Amino acid sequence: MHVISFEGFEYSGKSTQIALLKKYFSKQKIVSTFTREPGGNKDLEKIRKIILQSDFDNLSLILFFFASRFSLLSTLNSNGIVVFDRFFDSTYAYQNYTSRDRELILNLIKQVHKKYIPRLTFYFKMNKKTLLERKNKRGAQNKFDKKYLGEFSRIQKNYNDLSKIKINKRIFITIDASQSKELIHQEIIENLKKWKLIK
Ligand code: TYD
Repeated sequence: MHVISFEGFEYSGKSTQIALLKKYFSKQKIVSTFTREPGGNKDLEKIRKIILQSDFDNLSLILFFFASRFSLLSTLNSNGIVVFDRFFDSTYAYQNYTSRDRELILNLIKQVHKKYIPRLTFYFKMNKKTLLERKNKRGAQNKFDKKYLGEFSRIQKNYNDLSKIKINKRIFITIDASQSKELIHQEIIENLKKWKLIK
């Protein structure tokens, strides 16, 4: 099993790339499992709805996200490549407010079994101009996305910090999200080959 994860702000093109990768794996007959957070299985998708519509305080959110995450991992029984649409980095990027919360999140990340630490994380980094252009073009977002829209810089900075924090053997790959979707897809495939996750 190889784990990879996708991270990025709303409108970064994360979902488009995950869809392209799914197509690629199926065409190449590469065994894979795609999951997303919060949610990822039948029961947790119900919790996803509740969390994303909630006004929970920060500490509760951290714990809800990690509870949902550990529950997902305990039921994950996969071969091949497991693809996470958001993983623990999202909690660090979005929920981190105080230094005590930050420590808590880092400690919770340490509780993730090393077989689930992604080998590669693709982070789509976007500038504010691209964000605003895409935001104006596209329709409604969920309540959660709206809540964090004004916190783009803080969240981007947190992702930047994550690129410097060593977590096991994980390689954090920052991708320029303003490029075309074809180029980004190519970059992802090249990295999967380079790090020998696929041939
Ligand atoms: P996402 O799956 O990207 O949904 P959508 O594509 O509808 O935006 O993310 C849902 C929201 O949840 C997003 O605003 C980020 C937030 N989130 C956190 O704040 N912390 C977390 O740990 C996770 C996994 C998500």
